Amino acid sequence: ITPVITIDGPSGCGKGTIAAKLAERLGWHLLDSGALYRGLGHAAMAAGVDLDDGEALGQLAGRLDLRFAGQRLLLEGDDISSAIRTETAAAAASRVARHAPVRAAMLDWQRNAVRPPGLVADGRDMGTVVFASAPLKFYLDASLKERANRRYKQLNDKGVDANLVDLTDDLRERDQRDQQRALSPLVAADDAVVMDTTRMSIDAVFNSVMDAVRR
Ligand code: CDP
Repeated sequence: ITPVITIDGPSGCGKGTIAAKLAERLGWHLLDSGALYRGLGHAAMAAGVDLDDGEALGQLAGRLDLRFAGQRLLLEGDDISSAIRTETAAAAASRVARHAPVRAAMLDWQRNAVRPPGLVADGRDMGTVVFASAPLKFYLDASLKERANRRYKQLNDKGVDANLVDLTDDLRERDQRDQQRALSPLVAADDAVVMDTTRMSIDAVFNSVMDAVRR
């Protein structure tokens, strides 16, 4: 069977960067599951679907033509990779992600991403739900202040307008929603390697991850 490594954690913990580096180093496929929820949130806002209507969102998720083309995310063939990186899209993602019909629709989609030689999957519930039997799991965390700083730099580098105070509030609100929801709440899997990356550089985190992978 094809191996899966999962990397979960809250916003700005560095999981996206680490997952991409790890996939590249191993020559494995990469699943950015957050991009799917962001894509659905984006599509729902564009279609005027109520972000509190789980049934309607589940149906939308089921019929949506959402595809990755390399690192780009396509919705009905349109490149929405930049559009989904705003905090508005992130907030919409976290609101649509609460609903059972949405998570059910996403489950098959995510499991279908498993292809040889292996998959690195990043998200909130990769290790706890979607790939619960994965042999190696990571849970990355960092203080709220540090995560907001990282996200601020990341958005600035991309030329996206950001305000550190608003960003901190947005992350806090999104973390709470993700941790307190009934389904697939954000929590470390029992068998995950948990790392507090607050005072670690990306290279230091990547090196510890690689140490665990080699073991
Ligand atoms: O990059 P960042 O960590 O800020 O966000 P993301 O990974 O793109 O995820 C955006 C939102 O989608 C999260 O706040 C979660 O509410 C939701 N999500 C989820 O519920 N389950 C996943 N596996 C991935 C994301």
